[in-house]
Amino acid sequence: MQKGFLISFEGGEGGGKSTQIVRLREHMTSEGFDIVVLREPGGTAISEQIRDVVLSAKNIGIAYTTEVLLFQAARAQLYREIVLPSLEAGKVVIMDRTRDSSVVYQGMVRGFGKELIEQLNNISTKDTYPDLTFFLDVDVTTGLQRQNDAGGNNRMEMENLEFHKKVRDAYVQLARENSENRWVTIDANKSIDAVEKTIWEKVQTALELR
Ligand code: TYD
Repeated sequence: MQKGFLISFEGGEGGGKSTQIVRLREHMTSEGFDIVVLREPGGTAISEQIRDVVLSAKNIGIAYTTEVLLFQAARAQLYREIVLPSLEAGKVVIMDRTRDSSVVYQGMVRGFGKELIEQLNNISTKDTYPDLTFFLDVDVTTGLQRQNDAGGNNRMEMENLEFHKKVRDAYVQLARENSENRWVTIDANKSIDAVEKTIWEKVQTALELR
């Protein structure tokens, strides 16, 4: 590989992103890849502090503009500290959410618009896009139920059903518009094992492992 490879996981609540990331990491590690796993917002000491502010259920008074900028601030720090140096070093970086979460949640659902958010994303990531993006598409009610069972709702998860439906519709639209390139939509209503298999096959194909 010339440079590293960036894989992102996207989708609404309860799609099983973190479970699938653990499994993908195991597959890739046993293939001998040097893997870095990160989540957004978060992933560095500074970005985790920003995460606390932007997601705390206490901060219901946060302005949407503040929310937009805090997600970007956490991202800018993470890319500079870890993502870009890791890619430069030829590693595979697996991310639990990144720029497309801002396009969906802030751009399309909160209404700031895709264009503005992509401009900010480009500043935060230094024009870096994932090479491969998995959209784990789960039925909204099932997803919220899974999330509740996992315990503890953050500020975004406390939004109403209508909000979460809009999130899902926005992801479907974005993935459809970009289906020829990096986006792969996965039916996350299926079993964990079935989803794992599909993801691993796609990654193997993308990395020419088979
Ligand atoms: P998290 O608990 O990590 O959720 P999940 O397990 O669903 O990934 O919370 C992240 C929340 O922040 C999630 O509701 C999506 C939201 N978010 C944005 O609104 N914009 C962003 O740019 C990012 C990265 C996340």
